[in-house]
Amino acid sequence: MNIEQALTLLGGLTPQQFMKRHWQKKPLLVRNAIPGFVPCLNRTELVALAGQEGVESRLIVDSAKGWRMKHGPLAKRSLPPFSQKKWTFLVQGVDLHHDGVHALMQQFRFVPDARLDDLMISFATDGGGVGPHFDSYDVFLLQAHGQRRWRIGRQKDLSLQPGVPLKILQNFEAEEEFVLNPGDMLYLPPKYAHDGIAEGECMTWSIGFRVPQQGELARELLLGLADEAFDGLGEALYRDPNQPAVTSPAAIPAALVGFAHQVVEKALKNPDLLNSLLGEYLTEPKSNVWFDGSAALAPDLASGVRLDRRTKMMYDDRHIFINGESFRAGGKDARILRLLADKRALDAASCAILSDPAKEALLDWMAADWLKPREDIPV
Ligand code: SIN
Ligand code: CO
Repeated sequence: MNIEQALTLLGGLTPQQFMKRHWQKKPLLVRNAIPGFVPCLNRTELVALAGQEGVESRLIVDSAKGWRMKHGPLAKRSLPPFSQKKWTFLVQGVDLHHDGVHALMQQFRFVPDARLDDLMISFATDGGGVGPHFDSYDVFLLQAHGQRRWRIGRQKDLSLQPGVPLKILQNFEAEEEFVLNPGDMLYLPPKYAHDGIAEGECMTWSIGFRVPQQGELARELLLGLADEAFDGLGEALYRDPNQPAVTSPAAIPAALVGFAHQVVEKALKNPDLLNSLLGEYLTEPKSNVWFDGSAALAPDLASGVRLDRRTKMMYDDRHIFINGESFRAGGKDARILRLLADKRALDAASCAILSDPAKEALLDWMAADWLKPREDIPV
């Protein structure tokens, strides 16, 4: 993507300008971000998706008795009638299940893949919404069908209403208000309070981002380092030939404390391992994704390859990461495999000049259904 090219999607800003001025900083309302936008998924298809096992969905009803929430799968008969006001259902990760939705999400790849999370679709009847709240991640709210009134504010008081099954702000105060029409889009940075209420039947597509959380990331990486340390540091034993006789036997010897610090430092002193654990973690498929490894029985590279829409592929200076695995690559192989990760496709000529181990890797990934033949155009 040319990050210096002004985009209609960003209201005439270049991706570079958008990232500098708005990303994680301030909202942006874009009228006609996608002119003439016609969603490639209608209400019936979304209802069908929400009823499927392995698709994350929620039903939220705002009734006289208060807020009610139910987690999916949501059978059609379990939904309120479409004539009933003030209810909504939301389907998470639609990009994993629909090629057209996945394709739309690619327009947002001026943000690194490591940050892009998923595309959620909500359907609401008149007056429906999820209540005033804030999200801990950035979001692009693209109006897909009908109208939605968004009220937003830089809320300082983020206290939540007690005793409700949703995170709803107790004292929401809106500063601005807009009605979005199909094709309009609103970008909000993390923690920006918002409340979107459907005006008539409405569908909103939210492009959401992944925010690595300090504690969780540390735990993930340390668990990986722990396994490696156990194998790598081996069985060398603590020795204390200079240990004097003690009068306070319960006190932990300083030398043993030092030994503990040393072994942990040794285990951490492996930047290459840390980087590969990070790449493996970031490309790990979501828990509801599984690949049918039998799809490509006789994989070949003759027509080039493309990534399956569910495949996550990233890289760093030394490795290529794909769906939670790492592959060390340098030189020409690294250049070509990075191209595959960035473009999500590779032509036959590029496949042909890879080294044998890299070709083998592509064939393995194809057999696992992570890659498809390039000519196999998604419908
Ligand atoms: C919705 O689409 O109803 C909610 C999206 C959001 O507020 O993040
Ligand atoms: Co939100």
